[in-house]
Amino acid sequence: MREGAKGRADPVEERILRLLMENRGSYVSGQRIADSVGISRTAVWKRVKRLKGRYGDLIESRPSSGYRLKEDYTPLDGLDLLIPPESIIGHPLFIYQEVASTNDIACDLALKGIREGATVVADAQTRGRGRLGREWFSPRGVNLYLSTILRPPIPPWKGPQLVFLGAMAVVRAVEGLGLRVEVKWPNDILVKGRKLSGILTEMSSEPERINFVILGIGVNVNMEEEMLPPELKGRATSLRGETGRVVDRARFAASLIHHLNRYYRLFLDQGSAPILDEWKGYSFLDGREVEVLGPGSVLRGIVLGVDDDGALLLRTSHGVERVISGDVTLKGGLEDRPCYLP
Ligand code: BTN
Repeated sequence: MREGAKGRADPVEERILRLLMENRGSYVSGQRIADSVGISRTAVWKRVKRLKGRYGDLIESRPSSGYRLKEDYTPLDGLDLLIPPESIIGHPLFIYQEVASTNDIACDLALKGIREGATVVADAQTRGRGRLGREWFSPRGVNLYLSTILRPPIPPWKGPQLVFLGAMAVVRAVEGLGLRVEVKWPNDILVKGRKLSGILTEMSSEPERINFVILGIGVNVNMEEEMLPPELKGRATSLRGETGRVVDRARFAASLIHHLNRYYRLFLDQGSAPILDEWKGYSFLDGREVEVLGPGSVLRGIVLGVDDDGALLLRTSHGVERVISGDVTLKGGLEDRPCYLP
């Protein structure tokens, strides 16, 4: 299901985009577009201008040659065909060109009672958000912004544990590309200490049960270092940056959905323990000296690991502290700069 920024995309623009996608990397003349879509060349020019407003420099034009979609634009279209019918996650699938936040769209769908597994992906987010009210940098056409709705039959206090499920699914999908990854409590996926992916879980619950959890996952796929705002330079990375090649976003998203489905079934069958056990094998913080900024408190200590509920265990000068939420910064030792990679 492909949707535009506000409802359905313009069908003529969709057809032009499809033609450019089929010929990705090569120029398609205005005349050829006009003939195949059945509109005048002036109308083609106008539509492409509108598309360029959305796709920016991913659509290039050359007076003598026509228009082309850059080689490194890998469309999300077709993702639905890569998700097996028996998968809980990914059905139904909503593909948007642009949204404020995929988590917001997923939340609206969940409130309307949509089935669990319903998933939203978008080419761009105008108000992508991360943990603790931070912004999530969401440029168009290069990364993956995905939110899926879960309705697990568990008490609300266990809801935050779903972040580990999301993290392990990202780990496995990224390992599938031959990269080594680490996880940083509670929600970061790092490659060589730089942030590749982040997870934002949002929940609606009643005292005894969860109505739904939105598992929002952002993965930097084909973003290049030059695209990063100054505050992220040297701190964020992408699959392309690490592998040296353009990664097909639809295929990567399908792999991520496959692993999300696998881990969600495991979670429903056996709870979070086996997932947390796997997660522990990738932990970036173990044994490191950190500062944890919590709501109204700062703790300093050595990370001992996480407990069975996913809380961070810290050896401080007052004994072992259990941290259920906070922002972790490395202290001394290996790095003396904050390691929260926004
Ligand atoms: C973080 O590291 O702070 C979490 C980042 C989560 C970003 C994803 S992108 C898809 C979904 N939509 C959002 O607005 N945020 C999440």
